[in-house]
Amino acid sequence: MTRIFSGVKPTGHLTLGNYLGAVRQWVAADQKPDEALFCVVDLHALTVEHDPARVRRLSRQAATLLLAAGLDPERCTLFVQSHVDEHTRLSYLLECTASDGELRRMIQYREKAGRAQAAGDGVRLSLLTYPVLMAADILAYRSEEVPVGEDQRQHVELTRDLAVRFNQRYGPTFTVPKATHPAVAARVMDLQDPRSKMGKSHEVSAGVVYLLDEPAAVTKKVMRAVTDTGSGVVYDREARPGVANLLDILAACTGGDPVELAAGYTGYGQLKRDVAEAVVELLRPVRERHAELAADPAAVDGVLRAGAERARGIARPVVDGAYEAIGLLAP
Ligand code: TRP
Repeated sequence: MTRIFSGVKPTGHLTLGNYLGAVRQWVAADQKPDEALFCVVDLHALTVEHDPARVRRLSRQAATLLLAAGLDPERCTLFVQSHVDEHTRLSYLLECTASDGELRRMIQYREKAGRAQAAGDGVRLSLLTYPVLMAADILAYRSEEVPVGEDQRQHVELTRDLAVRFNQRYGPTFTVPKATHPAVAARVMDLQDPRSKMGKSHEVSAGVVYLLDEPAAVTKKVMRAVTDTGSGVVYDREARPGVANLLDILAACTGGDPVELAAGYTGYGQLKRDVAEAVVELLRPVRERHAELAADPAAVDGVLRAGAERARGIARPVVDGAYEAIGLLAP
């Protein structure tokens, strides 16, 4: 058994890119509940200026969307980070394991702190310590694999360093995890900027399809997608990234092959119409399921409560073990 842990930060709405690139793979994996943990990492949303009501709303929405997309709470553990105290308990022990210099070197910290300072906002101390909390998220469950994007690789490296250091100093306590790139079926690019990833934190949204977009909005975004100069429909990621992205999306939606699909088209218009229809049909059940689930927030809260209970059952003994190993007197 391989235990996987992944975190979704409730700072934006999930996109077609998240769905085809990650969530759909999570759904397809045939897992047992204690092997796959999916966590809405709400504490991480507090490291920068935030609106309390928005964080609360996006946290429930992220959980609801993951369920709507097909995550089965019988086969995985879906929960909210702040519901399980073990994360913050362990984070402190790891702060006593990490060094100041190590954290100041984190690329994401330097970028985000730089931006906050430029905007005249204070830099929250939690922005500096955030990778330690992320390490606690992962290590509390003895996770083996952490499917993350390239931007999180350095944080997972830090997590490994902290696990090894803690184990060396205080005895074997943590599993040393590794970052994995999700077995990506599709790398979906921004429709307006096909050389960059379709991300949920983009400021401009014209090239980003959100899972909850209405069919008319999806169609409009696809029809306005940037295509390339040159005629004919060929699959060439380097020379024709816009068309290649549309073919990739179509292939991911229909289960076809982008090169073969290209042969069936002579112009961009028909290709876009087919992509729009395929995406609308792909997202239709997700939207419908989301509407049902959102109408009954108490049921979603129940799933999250059960998830937190299960998560606690895994994390508590691990973190208790770490408390003892580091020299704290058992209560
Ligand atoms: N830092 C991750 C991000 O910004 C989210 C995250 C928090 C995470 N804790 C995690 C991801 C643990 C994987 C495992 O996307």
